[in-house]
Amino acid sequence: MYTDKVMEHFTNPRNLGDVDNPDGIGQVGNPTCGDIMRISIKVEDGRIADVKFRTLGCAAAIATSSITTEMAVGRTLDEALHLTRAQVAAELGGLPPSKMHCSNLAAAGLHAAIKDYVEKNGLNLDLSGMETEEDAHGNGEAPEG
Ligand code: FES
Repeated sequence: MYTDKVMEHFTNPRNLGDVDNPDGIGQVGNPTCGDIMRISIKVEDGRIADVKFRTLGCAAAIATSSITTEMAVGRTLDEALHLTRAQVAAELGGLPPSKMHCSNLAAAGLHAAIKDYVEKNGLNLDLSGMETEEDAHGNGEAPEG
């Protein structure tokens, strides 16, 4: 039911833990199942320099968290804000339809960490495109249009 890439990231998750002295922290929960994810980031020169996660959740939640951290490193804050749950799921070779909601946590957690950083530093970054915890409560399907 899971792709090899999902299983590989589940059994060997990348960037597990917390970054030292994080610049931003995001924590989101998925009320569908009660799973929780926390992401911490380090920002240097406007880019994500380091990112780590802790996820209390299913295999899909852990695999999407892991690959999201890999996809986020090196991106500008704006680029990372536009990383979507659909891109995360696609990078894993897809998720079973019943597990698509699990892909919501990671992108929303990353975006929450960036928002935390932006607000703490009084930066002027357009946050309107970010996926929020509210989106993390959805079914994970990309919006139409
Ligand atoms: Fe909760 Fe997958 S079952 S995130």
